[in-house]
Amino acid sequence: MSTTLAIHGGEPARNRPWPGWPQWDESEQSGLMAVLERGEWGGYDAAVADFENAFAARHAARFCVTAVNGTTTLETALRALGIGRGDEVIVPPYTFIATAAAVRIVGATPVFVDVDLETWNLSVSAVEAAVNPRTKAVIPVHFGGLSVDLDSLLPLARRHNLVVIEDAAHAHGSSWRGQPVGALGTVGSFSFQTSKNLTAGEGGALLTNDDDLAELLWSIVNCGRRRSGDGYEHPNLGTNLRLSGWHAAVLSAGLSRLDDQLQRRMSNARRLRSFLAEVDGLSPQRWDPRADAHAHHLFLIRYDAERFGGLPRRDFIAALRAENIPASPVYPYPLYRQPPLAEPFSRVTPCPNSELLCEQTVSLSQNLLLAEPDEMDDIASAILKVRENINALR
Ligand SMILES: Cc1ncc(COP(=O)(O)O)c(C=O)c1O
Repeated sequence: MSTTLAIHGGEPARNRPWPGWPQWDESEQSGLMAVLERGEWGGYDAAVADFENAFAARHAARFCVTAVNGTTTLETALRALGIGRGDEVIVPPYTFIATAAAVRIVGATPVFVDVDLETWNLSVSAVEAAVNPRTKAVIPVHFGGLSVDLDSLLPLARRHNLVVIEDAAHAHGSSWRGQPVGALGTVGSFSFQTSKNLTAGEGGALLTNDDDLAELLWSIVNCGRRRSGDGYEHPNLGTNLRLSGWHAAVLSAGLSRLDDQLQRRMSNARRLRSFLAEVDGLSPQRWDPRADAHAHHLFLIRYDAERFGGLPRRDFIAALRAENIPASPVYPYPLYRQPPLAEPFSRVTPCPNSELLCEQTVSLSQNLLLAEPDEMDDIASAILKVRENINALR
């Protein structure tokens, strides 16, 4: 292997492409052909109900309602739970904007509460400190696929009568003490956008075990209809957020591969973690053993520039990318700095950990973890190569 960094013209540590994403085979093709030939194509095609049943069963949930994406699912959950003007909803500031924007879109106030530095997940003690009589809900994000500490969060929510909306956009197939996430709180929201571990390009789903809530979620996604009605009875205010048969067919095909991919990501993540344990200045996300299945939508590392001779994170990432390791810094700043979510549109509690994670996160996407186990060593070699050449980078 060349010792000259690829960013300086040397041979890259890796020369092969990484597994592509999204992945598909003839099962997507045959599912799509079946939708085509049935001639319904829309949200009432049988492929939608088939996928909803399979996705609910995979997550040990009684009900699944699909929708067009994982942003509208969050909004739908909030609406169905009657959350709106005057209500506060606790959210993390280190997440994709949809988690908090959904709260404002239904007229409620997002309350930003800090995350844990080692897990990237909401800090449950900080949640407790932020609760007041206006607090109606909390939206934990199972960040990167790691379940939030539900042993602490669910009892806290019960004590304060809070609704728990799990944002499981990163967590298809993740579990907490053997139980799949998504229907462990009041309702769970998933995304099937292109990058996600289960995808149809776009799409979303809600899981719940509550019959009445499931009916209302379905109704809001279906123009306010009554499920058992004739199509022109609208007892609720709803809109049309239905997922199409095309999407559902692609999702069912992908779902049949989810568990194999989950196992492969977890075992490759273990290999990568044992390597990183030896590297001073890089700390992988702490994997709580109670989070027994971890989807690894993102493989998260904290980069301590001081322990890399002061090399700024952007230079570390640029050097890794030149070695063909597509690392990314994820979010540039916490969500309360995005104009539509800043005060006075939100309430912000102190979030030093989220600030630090915006400076230190280095993330690898899930498709890298679908490579062969020995390909994880390419990531390790590239990191070591960059570390050995810090002086050349400064
Ligand atoms: C944590 C989180 N929540 C919600 C969403 C929104 O999902 P979608 O892109 O399907 O609207 C995303 C998508 O990136 C996400 O990462």
